[in-house]
Amino acid sequence: MLVDNALEATASTVTLRAQQHQPGLAITVTDRGLGMSAAVLERAFEPFFTTKPTGKGMGLGLYLARNVVLSLRGALTLRSHVGRGTTAEIQLPSDRLRIPKPAPPSRPPPSRPPSSSA
Ligand SMILES: Nc1ncnc2c1ncn2[C@@H]1O[C@H](COP(=O)(O)OP(=O)(O)O)[C@@H](O)[C@H]1O
Ligand SMILES: [Mg+2]
Repeated sequence: MLVDNALEATASTVTLRAQQHQPGLAITVTDRGLGMSAAVLERAFEPFFTTKPTGKGMGLGLYLARNVVLSLRGALTLRSHVGRGTTAEIQLPSDRLRIPKPAPPSRPPPSRPPSSSA
């Protein structure tokens, strides 16, 4: 959802960054696109608030994304300036993270004796 918004706001690059730090994990999605005015920024998390044409925007992306993040006891914040772009940041506490153990090295398949049939 955050990446969709970023891609819709810019024709250029969207940058994703994930940083693990002491209290948890921070994920940011940054675009250098349209940006948001203070009035839009204030309402961006409201359900069904959209500035996109009918049929394009439902206005639920940020609302749902924030609810998911809140259910994990995290935070979703926006920093944005008109004409300069937007950064959406998700912060998750470390106790909600399940970091998978690396898989054991895969063994080579058992070697077979060379087949005698031609
Ligand atoms: N990266 C962004 N750049 C500019 N505006 C944004 C960005 N992300 C969200 N917005 C603004 O917030 C509004 C709400 O976003 P969202 O809840 O995802 O709904 P939707 O994308 O369906 O409009 C968007 O219509 C847009 O005005
Ligand atoms: Mg959206």
